[in-house]
Amino acid sequence: MTSAFEPATIGRYTTRSRVVMAPMTRSRAYGPGASPTELMATYYGQRAGAGLIVTEGIQPSAIGQGYLNTPGLHTDEQVAAWRPVTAAVHDRGGLIFAQLMHTGRIGHPDNTAQGHQPAGVSAVRAAGTIVTPTGPQEFPVPQPLDADGVRATIADFVTAARNAIEAGFDGVELHGANGYLLHQFLATNTNLRDDEWGGDVAGRIRFVVEVTGAVADAVGADRVGLRISPANGFNDIVEDGHRETYLALLDALNPLGLAYLHVAEGPDTEFTPVLRDRWQGTFLLNPYTPGSWTGPEALKLIETGETDLVSYGALYLANPDLPRRLAASGPFTTPDYRTAYGGDHHGYTDYPELG
Ligand SMILES: Cc1cc2nc3c(=O)[nH]c(=O)nc-3n(C[C@H](O)[C@H](O)[C@H](O)COP(=O)(O)O)c2cc1C
Repeated sequence: MTSAFEPATIGRYTTRSRVVMAPMTRSRAYGPGASPTELMATYYGQRAGAGLIVTEGIQPSAIGQGYLNTPGLHTDEQVAAWRPVTAAVHDRGGLIFAQLMHTGRIGHPDNTAQGHQPAGVSAVRAAGTIVTPTGPQEFPVPQPLDADGVRATIADFVTAARNAIEAGFDGVELHGANGYLLHQFLATNTNLRDDEWGGDVAGRIRFVVEVTGAVADAVGADRVGLRISPANGFNDIVEDGHRETYLALLDALNPLGLAYLHVAEGPDTEFTPVLRDRWQGTFLLNPYTPGSWTGPEALKLIETGETDLVSYGALYLANPDLPRRLAASGPFTTPDYRTAYGGDHHGYTDYPELG
C-alpha cells in the first residue's frame, strides 16, 4: 500500500510526498508590470513542504490576463521578479511548477493595463459577470483568434514556459481546466469553429495537443503537466460528449511522456477511474467536493491506488504546513475566502504553523 508521505515521480523529479498544493489565484501582483512581489516569495516559501507547489494561474501573454492583479511570465521584469519566489521554495527543499493560464473569453478590458478585448475561440460570451475595478460587469463578447492568432498564442505559451525555466521554476502546468482558453477550445458551447481547431473531436482537441507538444518540445515533456476538468461547468462551460473528447485527448498526449496529468474532478466522478486507467503517466487528482473542500480523507485515494498524488486548494491556502498537519491528523485552520483574492498579507502570509 502506498502512503501519501512516500515520494512520487513527477517527470524528472522525485517529490518528498504525494501532497500537492493546488493552483490558486490570489491577485496580489499589483501595478502595470504584473510582477510577483516579495510577499509572494514569503507565501510560497511557507508552503515549500509540499510534494509539489503549483502556482496561481500566470498569464503567458498580456492578452492572456483576465482577472485583476494576476502575475505574468512574458516580460524580463516578471522573469526577474519570479526568481526570489522559486529561490524561497528551493531553499526549503521544495518543488514549484508555474501554472500557465490564458483566460481566453473570461476577462474584461478594464482588468488589463492595455484595455484589450479578451481573445476567444469563437464569438460566444460567457454568461455572468466578472469583477472589475468599478465592480462586477458582464463578460464581453471575445474577439475570436484567427489562424495567425492561434499560432501566435501557441508561441506565447512556449516563450512563457522558457521564461518559467529561466526564472527557476522546476516546470510548468498548462491550465486546460475551469473554462479558460484551453478548455474553451475543448468545449462544445465555446468552440464553434469550422477550421482545423474546431468541429469534431479531433478538431477541438487540436489546440491543446499543439500547445502541449510545443511546450514539451521547448522545455522537456518531463517538466510539463496538464490540468483538465472534464464536464466541469465552471465559467459557463458545456461539454457534450465529454468522455469521448477527453479520452481522445489522453490518447493524443500519452506518447509525449508528460510529467503528470492533473484532474480537477467534476460531477462525473465515475469518469475519473476511466481517465486514471487510460493515462499512462503520473496521475494527480483534485477530488470533487461540492460545497466543501478536499480534506484528509482524500489521502486514502493514494492508498487505494485511485491516484498517485492529491492536490489541496482551500486547505493549503489556510495551512502553510499542511503535510505536517495531515500526518498528525490536524488540527486545520479554516480558510477565510474574504481575503482569497487581493489585499495584503492578511489571510495570505499570516496563517499560523503548528506549534
Ligand atoms: C482562491 C482560489 C483560487 C483558485 N485559483 C485557481 C487557479 O488559478 N488555477 C486553477 O487551476 N485552479 C484554481 N482554483 C481551484 C483549485 O485549484 C482547486 O481545484 C479547488 O479549490 C478545489 O480544491 P479544494 O477542495 O482542495 O479547495 C482556485 C481555488 C481557490 C480556492
